[in-house]
Amino acid sequence: MTDAGVIYCGDSLQVLQTFPENSVDCCVTSPPYYALRDYGADGQIGREATPEEYIDRLVSVFHEVKRVLTPQGTCWVNIADTYCGTGSKAEHCDPKNPKGRNGQQVAVNHRVPGCKPKDLIGIPWLLALALRADGWYLRSSIIWHKANPMPESARDRPTRCYEYVFLLTKSKKYYYDWQAVAEPIAPTTAARMKGGRTEKGKYAAGTPGQNKPQKINQVRAKGTYTDEIISPVRSRRDVWQINTVSYRGGHFAAFPPKLAETCILAGCPVGGTVLDPFLGSGTTGMVAKQLGRRYIGIELNPEYCTLAERRIGGEKN
Ligand SMILES: C[S@@+](CC[C@H](N)C(=O)[O-])C[C@H]1O[C@@H](n2cnc3c(N)ncnc32)[C@H](O)[C@@H]1O
Repeated sequence: MTDAGVIYCGDSLQVLQTFPENSVDCCVTSPPYYALRDYGADGQIGREATPEEYIDRLVSVFHEVKRVLTPQGTCWVNIADTYCGTGSKAEHCDPKNPKGRNGQQVAVNHRVPGCKPKDLIGIPWLLALALRADGWYLRSSIIWHKANPMPESARDRPTRCYEYVFLLTKSKKYYYDWQAVAEPIAPTTAARMKGGRTEKGKYAAGTPGQNKPQKINQVRAKGTYTDEIISPVRSRRDVWQINTVSYRGGHFAAFPPKLAETCILAGCPVGGTVLDPFLGSGTTGMVAKQLGRRYIGIELNPEYCTLAERRIGGEKN
């Protein structure tokens, strides 16, 4: 434990049950995806016999996350989908690659009730709707678009190049700093604003955060129109283009620091505490620390705890 944060090495549900309620401002996490990886630890999530069992376990973990979150808290969940039957090796073990690709020796996604082999299971939305049913406010489904996706050998469907990030909240009103993650307005919009007219000749675009578009000509008539009044940014949109970055430190599922950064800037006040119940290599903790927030990380695999500890520069609990 350091001033900046703490890492707990253990099962996320059990560890979370020891935390006091309303003690965390923000959760940024990427749970193990269903049947895609083997993280080599007993009790790991992601190797359940069916998607239903997997979703039930995640709902239990996030139920505890909701309990420990402050009423203004936000929770950002990065999750991707799984195909039914793809990569199924049943009990077969490749002698050249005994640990399997991504550490996965035996695939478990070949028995999915209601799905045929080759069907996309729909894991992200199964999870999002189950969390909503458990009381979370489902506020946004963000597409994390990767311009540099993993190449795929499939020639009968498009290559996947996005994952989901769901924004969930405990209450109707919550902390969201739209300005911290605002994006530049399109050059064409900027030009229209300067001219005071839209293509339809009436209004220019509104200032982010306002529901109604601003009547630029009226503002001008009062003599108050300047470039400063019209913000050159707009509210962040829900497709985020963030490239994957290879992390060679010994964890094959690390998400890019930029992804964690965007969630933390929008969802956690400076000085607040960010939780990652599936810490992995420690990306969330590392970014939280860099941004002046405290971190709490939970990770089941002791090797990853050590890895995260080194990466963040903190100490393991
Ligand atoms: C997708 S990875 C997280 C990667 C992380 N975002 C990063 O950037 O490195 C999911 C992690 O959850 C861990 N995990 C699996 N089951 C767990 C459990 N029951 N409790 C805590 N951690 C678990 C895995 O060991 C793995 O490191």
